[in-house]
Amino acid sequence: MSVILTRSCGSTIAMAEGASVLEALHRHGIAHASVCGGKARCTTCRVRVLSGQEALGPPGPLEVEALARIGAPAEVRLACQLRPTADLTVMPLLPADATMGEVAGSGGLDGRECEVAVLFVDLRDSTSLGEARMPYDVLFILNRFFLEMNRALVATGGHYSNFTGDGLMALYGLDGGDPAQAVRDALAGARLMLDAVGRVNKDLATELPQPLRIGIGLHVGEAIVGSMGPPGSQIISAIGDTVNIAARLEGLTKDYDCVLVLSRTAADMAGPPPPADRLRSVTVKGRSEAVEVYACDRVPMT
Ligand code: FES
Repeated sequence: MSVILTRSCGSTIAMAEGASVLEALHRHGIAHASVCGGKARCTTCRVRVLSGQEALGPPGPLEVEALARIGAPAEVRLACQLRPTADLTVMPLLPADATMGEVAGSGGLDGRECEVAVLFVDLRDSTSLGEARMPYDVLFILNRFFLEMNRALVATGGHYSNFTGDGLMALYGLDGGDPAQAVRDALAGARLMLDAVGRVNKDLATELPQPLRIGIGLHVGEAIVGSMGPPGSQIISAIGDTVNIAARLEGLTKDYDCVLVLSRTAADMAGPPPPADRLRSVTVKGRSEAVEVYACDRVPMT
């Protein structure tokens, strides 16, 4: 029995059995936003269900997670995940050519989805640096720190994405190549960063109230990558779960008092895993499933 899909403009189409609303629309040549290609990540395909909601199954975990991110009400669903078994009427909520900018409700982001390695670095105890030194001294030290971090990125093919106060976010694999290589490059970058911090500590031994220390978080996965930010000040950056997890892993280096927290996903891609006794299972805000990570005292060789 075929299902009739009615759009808020009044047009109707017969849906093939088991098809999603998005697939049915595209199959009939009807343009509908779908930045992530139907993977329940971008929410640009969202629709308001006007009738037939009672016959729909509940959203699955991916859809629940995506809808929660945008605070969608119960009648809003993702067209790419909806597979109705009874007639349905829906209203598209974003223009067919919507970009991720419309998702966030502000312009300036034009993204594509790709698999990247995301690395966060944070300078530990930077507050105490500020307390012990004059602002110009702090500026000098931070500039040297960022210079060295950037050198490590350039040497290993990393892309400096974002300045985060006393740390930075970097992306590897923007060329769409092998994600495993992106992780290996990111680990090489992490090694150079730690070497560089050692050098800075030596060079500035008399200036520093205590040696600089850094914490690094590294994860790999799909993310929306693109130019973001206000007109004239755009940067190439990334958003999505992969980025959130990498940021959280960097934060965990404080809890575990280690230099690197590496997701198991990234470690498995890179090569020989770190010792099994370094494996931990952590919960990450906004995710229902635990994430397995390695808390490392040194950057593993790959
Ligand atoms: S197409 Fe991206 S969430 Fe549906």
